[in-house]
Amino acid sequence: MGKPKRIGILTAGGDCPGINAAIRGVGKTAIVSHGMEVIGIASGFSGLIHNEFEVLSENALSGILTLGGTILGTSREKPFKKNGTLGADKPKLIKKHYKEMGLDCIVCIGGNGTQKTAALLAEEGLNVIGIPKTIDNDVFGTDFTFGFDSAVTIATEAIDRLHTTANSHKRIMVIELMGHTAGWLTLYAGMAGGGDVILIPELGYDIKVINRYLLDRAYKKKPYSIVVVAEGVEKPKEELSAGAYIAKMIEKGTRIETRTTILGYVQRGGSPSPMDRILATRFGSHAVQLIAEERFGRMVTNKDGKTSSISLKEVGGKLSLIPTDHSLITKARALDICMGDYCKF
Ligand code: F6P
Repeated sequence: MGKPKRIGILTAGGDCPGINAAIRGVGKTAIVSHGMEVIGIASGFSGLIHNEFEVLSENALSGILTLGGTILGTSREKPFKKNGTLGADKPKLIKKHYKEMGLDCIVCIGGNGTQKTAALLAEEGLNVIGIPKTIDNDVFGTDFTFGFDSAVTIATEAIDRLHTTANSHKRIMVIELMGHTAGWLTLYAGMAGGGDVILIPELGYDIKVINRYLLDRAYKKKPYSIVVVAEGVEKPKEELSAGAYIAKMIEKGTRIETRTTILGYVQRGGSPSPMDRILATRFGSHAVQLIAEERFGRMVTNKDGKTSSISLKEVGGKLSLIPTDHSLITKARALDICMGDYCKF
C-alpha cells in the first residue's frame, strides 16, 4: 500500500462534547505532521453507504476545539443489520465507496455500537482505527471515554441546583441521569453532587431499603434528600422513566413530598470540559500515530492515565460496567450514602 496518504473520519452514534476536538486532533496531526489528506464522511456510516463526504482542509479544522456536537453529523446507522431498502448490500457499498474515495484508513469515532461496526469492517479487510466517545463511559477496554467528564460536570451542576430548592421546600428531589445500561455518570455525578441515595444498574435496589433510609434522614431532622437515579435501573415495563417511577414509590412509601427532574439531552450538549478537550485531542493524535505505523484494526484507549490502544476484535460489542466492588461504591457506603441495596437498619 505504501505510506497511508488519505484517511477518512466519521462520527457515529449519539453525540457528546469533545467530538470536534477529536476530529481536529486527528485532522491536524494527519495534515501537519504526516502530510496526509483528510476526508470527512457525513452522518456516520450512512455517509459511507451513500458516498457523502468532503475534503477537510487544515483551515476547516480551526475554531472547532470548543464546539459541541459534531461538524460531520452523526447517525445510528448499523450497516451490518440487514434492514431498510439496501439490506445486506450496505457493507458492499461501504467497501466500494472506501475504494472510490481512495482511502488508506478510516477513523471511526463512536461508542460501543460504532466500535462493533468498526471491528466488522476491519474483518471485511478495511483499514480501521476506533476512537471511543460517549457520555456513558461504557466502552470496553478504556478507563475513560471523552464526553464523560463534560456530562459529569453538567449533571453535577444540576444536582447542586436541586439542593437549594429541595431545602426551601423540605422535599425529596429525584434526578434521573443518562448512561444507558451503565451507572458511571450517575455514580460520579451523584458523588460529586452530594447525592444521599445513588441508584445504578450494576447494583440492585430495594425500594423498602431506600424509604427506610429516607425516613431515617427525616427523623434525624435532615431537611431534604437528593436521590440520583441512572436511567438504566430496573423498573416495570409500563413505566416510562426510572426516575419518575422511583419518585412515585418514594412518595408512596415515605409520604414526604417528592419531585422528579429528568435531565435528558442537556447532558450531551454544549462545549466540552477542558479534560475532555485534552482526552479527545490525545485520542485523535494517537489514532494518527497508529495509522502512520500501519497498526490498523485497533481502538485508542486511556488506561491508568496513559494513551494506548487495544485490538478492535477484543472490544467488539463488549460493555464496560461498574464493578460492584469499585472503590467509589465502597467510599459511598463508608459515607453512609444509600446505594439502594443495603442500609444499616
Ligand atoms: O449513548 C449515549 C446516550 O446518551 C445514552 O445515555 C442514552 O440512553 C442514549 O444515548 C439516548 O440516545 P438517542 O435518543 O440519541 O438515541
